[in-house]
Amino acid sequence: MLFIYSSVLASVFIPIIYCQTIYELLDSFRFLNEGTISSSEIYEYQYEFTFYTEPENVTREKFAWVEEVVRPYLYQKDPTKPLQCNSNPLLTGIDLPGADFLSIIPPLADPSHCNTLCCTYMSCTAWSYASLAPSDFNSCKKGQPCCYLKTYIPASVPNQDIISATMNRTCPYNHPPTGLRSAVPLGGITTGSIELRGDGTFHEWTIESQSPAAGAKFGVVDDALLVIRLRNLQTNENHTRLIRTHSNHNFDGIDTIKYHGSYPVSKLELIDYKLIANMDLYAYSIFKPGDLNRSMTPAIIYSLNIENPNDYPIAIDFMYNVPLSVQIDQTRLSKTVIQQIISNTYTQCISYCDQNNLCASWNWHIVNNQSTCLLYSDIGNNVYLSGHVSGVRGQWTYNRTGPLVLDRPGKMPANGQYVLWPFLSSDQTMTATIDNDINNILSNFSINGGWFEQTELKGSAANGAVSISTKLQPGKKKTLSILFAWYFPHHYWLDLPLDNYYSLLFNNVTTVGQSIGIDKNDDSQLKIIIKDILTLHNLYFNSNLPDYLVDSLINSASHMRSAMYFSNGDWRQWEAYDCNDVDSVHNDHQRHLPYILYFPETEKIKMYTWAKYQQNDGMIQETFTVGCMGDTAPYDQHGGRNMGDVTTIFILETLELYRWTNDFTFLKDMYPHVVAGIKWQLSVSSQLGLPEHLECTYDIPYMSQYPTTTFNSFMHLAALRACMELTLIMNDTITYNECYKSYFIAVTQINQLLWYNDSIDTGYFLAYTGGQGEKAIFTDALYGQVLAFTYGLGPLYSISKMKKHLESEVRLADTPYGLRMLTGREPLTNPQDNSIWMGASQDWSVLNLWFNMDFDSALIQSVKGLNHVRQTLNDQWNTHGLYAGDGYGIGGKPWVTSHYGFHMVLWHLPFAITGQYTDLTKGILLFSPKLRSPFILPVLIPNIFGSISATPLLNGQSSYTFTLSIGNLSLNVLAINNVKYPRSIHLTAGQSVQWIG
Ligand SMILES: *[C@@H]1O[C@H](CO)[C@@H](O)[C@H](O)[C@H]1NC(C)=O
Repeated sequence: MLFIYSSVLASVFIPIIYCQTIYELLDSFRFLNEGTISSSEIYEYQYEFTFYTEPENVTREKFAWVEEVVRPYLYQKDPTKPLQCNSNPLLTGIDLPGADFLSIIPPLADPSHCNTLCCTYMSCTAWSYASLAPSDFNSCKKGQPCCYLKTYIPASVPNQDIISATMNRTCPYNHPPTGLRSAVPLGGITTGSIELRGDGTFHEWTIESQSPAAGAKFGVVDDALLVIRLRNLQTNENHTRLIRTHSNHNFDGIDTIKYHGSYPVSKLELIDYKLIANMDLYAYSIFKPGDLNRSMTPAIIYSLNIENPNDYPIAIDFMYNVPLSVQIDQTRLSKTVIQQIISNTYTQCISYCDQNNLCASWNWHIVNNQSTCLLYSDIGNNVYLSGHVSGVRGQWTYNRTGPLVLDRPGKMPANGQYVLWPFLSSDQTMTATIDNDINNILSNFSINGGWFEQTELKGSAANGAVSISTKLQPGKKKTLSILFAWYFPHHYWLDLPLDNYYSLLFNNVTTVGQSIGIDKNDDSQLKIIIKDILTLHNLYFNSNLPDYLVDSLINSASHMRSAMYFSNGDWRQWEAYDCNDVDSVHNDHQRHLPYILYFPETEKIKMYTWAKYQQNDGMIQETFTVGCMGDTAPYDQHGGRNMGDVTTIFILETLELYRWTNDFTFLKDMYPHVVAGIKWQLSVSSQLGLPEHLECTYDIPYMSQYPTTTFNSFMHLAALRACMELTLIMNDTITYNECYKSYFIAVTQINQLLWYNDSIDTGYFLAYTGGQGEKAIFTDALYGQVLAFTYGLGPLYSISKMKKHLESEVRLADTPYGLRMLTGREPLTNPQDNSIWMGASQDWSVLNLWFNMDFDSALIQSVKGLNHVRQTLNDQWNTHGLYAGDGYGIGGKPWVTSHYGFHMVLWHLPFAITGQYTDLTKGILLFSPKLRSPFILPVLIPNIFGSISATPLLNGQSSYTFTLSIGNLSLNVLAINNVKYPRSIHLTAGQSVQWIG
């Protein structure tokens, strides 16, 4: 296409949001999910079959947060439907072999107990009973009675010694609305987080540096309460309400709360016709791509937008209470008891501990049939234990309009500080209080709208609370905000102290508040915080990306909740809380795109560390710390397996980071490791010309038993292509030639060993060579090609064959929830092969976009996979790695590993949609969008974000615009659809260029 005309448009950025109020800014947050939760609804846990997932209540320290076989999952009970569970008729002399998920010794040798047991588990559809178990099996013992609980009904077989039954049961349980199973995790990056759920309850607390390397999270903190009091200033009539749908104290909650989440923002719309004001609660934290330090602010802000729709003035008081000095149902694993005092109430332990100078923490539980305070001279890790209450010594202080601070001096993870601090302006007042009894706090608040008699506080107490008050004339709108910040510098890895990096940025919790200007009594910093989030969100919202994808891009970044950054400069992250290895190369790569884009330095830290631990033979080791589902290993006890997607990914990521960040020092530092990696890669491919007997991220099916797999072979192709690029840059002809030669050998070998025509018109790549089910198909087999496209390496193999393979994935492996992992090896009742790993459906769509399938058809699998979690399970802030397929009774349910990153390969989609090619080392940025003009689409480069847009002109040409919204960018070549901008460009945030062609 010919270039005709160009002009550099205005380089002055005029912020449209310049004079907006906090109210308006908050009101402009957008959301693409909603859950309506109402006080009349009943929510209950049901117990379901699972492989392993993360529990809410964690009972072990220094151990994976994992629960196996059965897990509770929250449901909404439908009271209009009958609840029925029985097993008639009994099938005497019949066995139902297989399908067991649990086997339990019943309390009496009576088959009716099997019915009772079966009814406790929603996944139980049949059972068999043996009065004398033929062998040990799960929890059953040979020779004792046994109930075998089944997830589906196997074919029956006559057996004199067995009685069986299939259940006759109804399950009046629906998936609950969005915001109850999970919600946006709030809190700075690497500072721990909390989820404010859609019913107003606070869950998943990790802000005291809890992790599988130390103590347990707090699953629920029931007395963390946001409360409002509204007063009609004409009549003085007033109402106090907990911002909860299901109140836990003697005050009403809210009729209905509508929950929405756009990470890092939660919005709770309070809907209740008896309320005399319109109110939306926002809870959010600081998140600014390109500014990691700022994003590591350990804080949450609660902002209540209030509108007075009446013709009379109203007063409003807004409070937050946190029971920070007691942890209900948490025990402290301490051994150094210094005092033991019989005590009916746990709050007495707080004063006992306060009075004993040696006391550092306490635990209250029953000892010899008596409730007892145990005072400890140390602070052990906390873990869940029902009936125990514990706490850490601490002192609250407050001085008139200053913050309310809880200080816990010491060097352990639970030592640190909290602050409750309202953002005040001239028309707002605050009060604070501390009390052992939440009911005192609430009743005084309901009478006076605060605790005005308290002008100075110093002492210990279970609860601390602050309030902020204002008045609104008719028709007026205002915002009341409370900062909840923390400062817990001491992170531990087993017994190794590793302070949090954020302790280098702040001296104490007061400086956290000061860093966002709360002491200045003006809201300019609060506006900046909100605008930074809006700028990020608008990249996606102000685009033609489909809604499901915008929502998923924004909210999947919440995966960062589990990242750790230590003051020694180490950035680390679990594979998952329930699988406690650290930064396996392959799992990291699935999730890495938002990390590399928003905080690229964190990904470089990992690359240097993987390089450091490279073996002498050139193999990159799988993880920094080995482990999964068990004891947490010592810090950086690196190791792992021989993998097809570790050394290869290390090579690819070197190219990716070099091209996207133009960092030649990084490339020079990595290059020797790349060359050594290539050597290893070729050494494990010497027999077949393809990687032999290697594991890969899909490890459950044990693919390393086979000579080679398509998955590993495509990773091999991608790595060899990356090698060719890197060796050209480094002028390393010898290595170039090896990679070039090996690449063509590999292509030929894939043709011969792995391609299979299952009919004249159809075909696919075999999952693996040899072995049982030798014609099996593996979805996501072409992941290497996904990476090759995003990093600008182009097609690795015959496009027509790759397209045929993708057609066959749907033809042979489609399910209602996404693409089944492995088809053709085991029967569909086998959960190992027949499960949905969250990468395949996304990668299917990415590839079909690059192959120019029409837009909507290409997205079908991606939409299905993500919407199953977003809109059916309503659980997108706890997306699991694997979901169950049909065939074993739990189709579509979470199957393995919580808060996972596998679905985050969805981040390859925007690259495929824009056809973005990025090589900043040459100053080249090209786009070939899959959408026709007109369009607006996001531009994603590490620390640099913006958009491209096109508008059709009457003459058949288009007007193109490139706008930068975050960062700085210099380019030699910028082109959309091969239409080049005629000059080089140097842009800063807010600037744009426009051209026609
Ligand atoms: C976790 O513990 C809390 C407090 O004991 C309890 O209310 C909650 O139901 C538990 N969660 C699950 C999933 O069992």
